[in-house]
Amino acid sequence: MIAKLAPSILTADFGRLAEQVQEAEAAGADWLHIDVMDGHFVPNLTMGPIVVQAIRRAISLPLDVHLMVERPETLIPAFVDAGADHISIHAEATAHLHRAIEMIRRADCKVGVALNPATPLAAVEEILAEVDIILIMSVDPGFGGQAFLPGVMDKITRLRKSLEQRGLSHVEIEVDGGVKSDNIRQIVDAGASVLVVGSAVYNQRHSVAENMATLQVASKL
Ligand code: DX5
Ligand code: ZN
Repeated sequence: MIAKLAPSILTADFGRLAEQVQEAEAAGADWLHIDVMDGHFVPNLTMGPIVVQAIRRAISLPLDVHLMVERPETLIPAFVDAGADHISIHAEATAHLHRAIEMIRRADCKVGVALNPATPLAAVEEILAEVDIILIMSVDPGFGGQAFLPGVMDKITRLRKSLEQRGLSHVEIEVDGGVKSDNIRQIVDAGASVLVVGSAVYNQRHSVAENMATLQVASKL
């Protein structure tokens, strides 16, 4: 399977954000991943709809918005208006997951549901047919640059199998956290179809173009 790459801007240079996202687009990114954190659901605070709006003006890639916020239903309309194409919400963050999914769907965005490493796949069993993306967190959410949790590999394999058994192979399995050139192939083999790549793309060591090229090669090896 040819996997998609979704660079996350969390470790990008925010002083020149437009350029940084344009570099990812020029380097062949499939989606741009935007990590929204509220300081409650996760112990970090990042960006809101006005940043999504600015990115929307800079590139034409699908904007993949990952809401790490409590009660996401209160914020969904603002991110829709800002130009999000995909909105992923955490199963742990709302008591009314189905209602929140419907809100995203009615706004004509692709629907994603995210799961923290400790949350079992059973949390999404009843809504698998209602979503476009299951976002599997392979680190505890909150920060870029953390190490991939090896135990998550088996969760990806089980989810892929379960989607196939239910005739839902079109649902994307997006894996987020600690994806690098040395583990990307194994994650794709386990069943991931979209890889979020943060510090492997935006770092001080190499340019975005060089890092994307390395990941593209490694994901196909
Ligand atoms: C973590 C975020 C991830 C993160 C990925 O809370 O959801 O998207 O930025 O960054 P890396 O690839 O550095 O783990
Ligand atoms: Zn993310």
